[in-house]
Amino acid sequence: MAGNSSLRKANKAKQDEFYTQLADIENELKHYKEHFRDKIVFCNCDDPYESNFFKYFAMNFNYLGLKKLIATCYDSSPVAYTQLSIFGEESGKNYSNYFRRAYKIEISSVQDYNNDGAVDLTDVQLLLQNNKNTLSLLKGDGDFRSEECVKLLKQADVVVTNPPFSLFREYVAQLVEYNKKFLIIGNQNAITYKEIFPLLKDNIMWLGHHSGGQTFQVPFDFEQNNTYISNGVKYAKFGNICWFTNLDTDKRHEEMQFYKKYTPEDYPQYDNYDAIEVSRVTDIPCDYDGLMGVPITFLDKYNPKQFEIVDAINRYSLLDIFNTNEKVRNMKSHTCNINGQAKYFRIIIRRKTNAD
Ligand SMILES: C[S@@+](CC[C@H](N)C(=O)[O-])C[C@H]1O[C@@H](n2cnc3c(N)ncnc32)[C@H](O)[C@@H]1O
Repeated sequence: MAGNSSLRKANKAKQDEFYTQLADIENELKHYKEHFRDKIVFCNCDDPYESNFFKYFAMNFNYLGLKKLIATCYDSSPVAYTQLSIFGEESGKNYSNYFRRAYKIEISSVQDYNNDGAVDLTDVQLLLQNNKNTLSLLKGDGDFRSEECVKLLKQADVVVTNPPFSLFREYVAQLVEYNKKFLIIGNQNAITYKEIFPLLKDNIMWLGHHSGGQTFQVPFDFEQNNTYISNGVKYAKFGNICWFTNLDTDKRHEEMQFYKKYTPEDYPQYDNYDAIEVSRVTDIPCDYDGLMGVPITFLDKYNPKQFEIVDAINRYSLLDIFNTNEKVRNMKSHTCNINGQAKYFRIIIRRKTNAD
């Protein structure tokens, strides 16, 4: 029914309303400083009055040596105008015209009051006292796919944000289409999407530093199990968050060490796929050169010089569905079965040898 489907859409969109904490942004961004000098950073799902991404880049504008910071916000959020202002209750008052519309902010200069590169920025208004910085209305609703936002995207060097999870596939596809550098937050499950996995497999993007639990600020009507209220602010804990990026970082060059030796008993073969099951990443056998199925947490440790990603399996081989879609979908058995028992989604990897 149309009514139900729009309600479902609205509910889904509501679940996109969670806000990243400054400490989590700082903890991740500290690994990428060298990628920002003289760059234009675009936060395209970020209301400057609320977003800690905008706040982080404004505060660190001089420290990172940014050329420009642009943020655009989305007008059609189901909780628009009810969110807390991270910058404090007063910050938007002189800009009330802008509060009910999508707008963009462009920052080209941040005064370094202490001459030490660090700016204690408590108010967007302070930034706007500098006539090199502007706040203006967008014509449309600030959708990251809109023509005016894509125009800004084209100008940008690096996109950094936490985008709506419900549009994650489209969001990433757009970044790849416009050949942008990016560092974005996503759900770990996105690794298993058929649109996302090939990008990880082909080293077009990879995981950043932090993976696992992360706590976000949420509106009071956000419905989910793991929420709590502290000092009048509601938070939700998400267990499976990670950063996706195409910025190079030390972590992806670290070698994993393994100690367990291969035995057929410890590492059974899948029934319908020519690979062995390795149920824990730390148990990858140190002496096995064939195909191995590993949990998705492998990507958190993945070094492309050490391993090659070949495929992913659960009900079917993820790569097969592009060419044998119907046939494979009709298959009753999972490719990750062992003795008829289906395992979870597995990434198929192979150790690289010196010859590779
Ligand atoms: C997960 S929240 C994160 C907000 C902010 N980036 C942060 O990290 O605190 C995603 C935001 O994207 C906005 N959004 C939803 N659909 C959008 C779209 N089509 N274009 C741009 N922003 C969108 C939502 O309203 C929401 O505020």
